[in-house]
Amino acid sequence: MIILNKKTIRDIDVQGKRVLVRVDFNVPQDKSDGHITDDRRIRESLPTLNYLLEHGASLVLMSHLGRPKAKEEKYSLKPVAARLQELLGRPVQMANDVIGDAVVAQAHALKPGDVLLLENVRFYPEEEKNDAAFARELARMGDVYVNDAFGSAHRAHASTRGVADYLPAVAGFLMEKEIEYLGGALNNPRRPFIAILGGAKIGDKIGVIENLLPKVDNILIGGGMANTFAKANGYRVGDSLVEDDKLDLAREMMSKSAGKLVFPVDWVIADKFAADAESKVVDVENVPDGWRILDIGPESIKLFESYLKNAKTIVWNGPMGVFEFPKFAQGTLAIANFLAQLPDAITVIGGGDSAAAVEQAGIADKMSHVSTGGGASLEFMEGKVLPGVEALQNK
Ligand code: 3PG
Repeated sequence: MIILNKKTIRDIDVQGKRVLVRVDFNVPQDKSDGHITDDRRIRESLPTLNYLLEHGASLVLMSHLGRPKAKEEKYSLKPVAARLQELLGRPVQMANDVIGDAVVAQAHALKPGDVLLLENVRFYPEEEKNDAAFARELARMGDVYVNDAFGSAHRAHASTRGVADYLPAVAGFLMEKEIEYLGGALNNPRRPFIAILGGAKIGDKIGVIENLLPKVDNILIGGGMANTFAKANGYRVGDSLVEDDKLDLAREMMSKSAGKLVFPVDWVIADKFAADAESKVVDVENVPDGWRILDIGPESIKLFESYLKNAKTIVWNGPMGVFEFPKFAQGTLAIANFLAQLPDAITVIGGGDSAAAVEQAGIADKMSHVSTGGGASLEFMEGKVLPGVEALQNK
């Protein structure tokens, strides 16, 4: 079954062409020295970049980094250029700007095999406004446009959407891989198909639950959002994070779910929201006043594993507890480790926190696919059309 009905770099001739590639190099950095703390998004772009270079192209790369309000040095892509140069094993030129005659001249001087990285496209407010004149300026840099920035494909910005109006536009290999895995899991799953959803808020996941319920066999619910379901079920939740304005919605979801939603049966609770809090395990109905739920408990882990052990397709988005505190990371890490040893299930990890969790557990390479998209994978799971994908040429 073809999932991505868009042309890719396999469908075009790039010999001698300047290829304008939108990548998502929005990588986490150490606040003190700018050191890149996780270069997965850069590494994942290499198959596309190497393919284009091997087929005789020169590359003009563009990305955003963070959410700058102006041209601020701390949001410069220079550290990314240095890391990319190491990973590619060839020089990467860094442009001083995003658009303008000097940058265009630099782009036009590229020879096959050369690589130029433009500065942070968000140094211009026109980027996020998808300004047509700005998109046209970007388009001057290349002969064809490749979008490989799955992580930004939910943004209709000039570099992710607008440029496609001015150049032949196709998908890169990372974009293709993301859509094939996420789309394959959602639309053509081997069964049983189990989703694991966590994270703080129901509000953030409601679209995902609604889109997944008709497709999955079960959804295992953890994280802060499970607290709201627990309260909606009549349990006392102490001082836990709860969305009181979503209790009716939670009840409605449960009544619509035909028993597909599976909730924790015990919790790890804490006397305060802190890494060094006192903690204990209690049953779901026994959260004392003054305590708060920070993780799923051991019986819940066993319950979730009993669903996962026979699953053939698993999609996971959102941690099971406050995994940035080691004491409350056990539920998330247990699920991650359990998935890692399943022999023949397709395991797809939505980006953001769940991707960080499997990286932290050291088992990212044991998953079938770890998405590079946080917001993008969430919107994809909600069944939304991603503007950065939609704009590409159909096969
Ligand atoms: C991400 O990290 O999710 C993407 O790079 C998009 O970044 P943004 O949320 O700032 O648009």
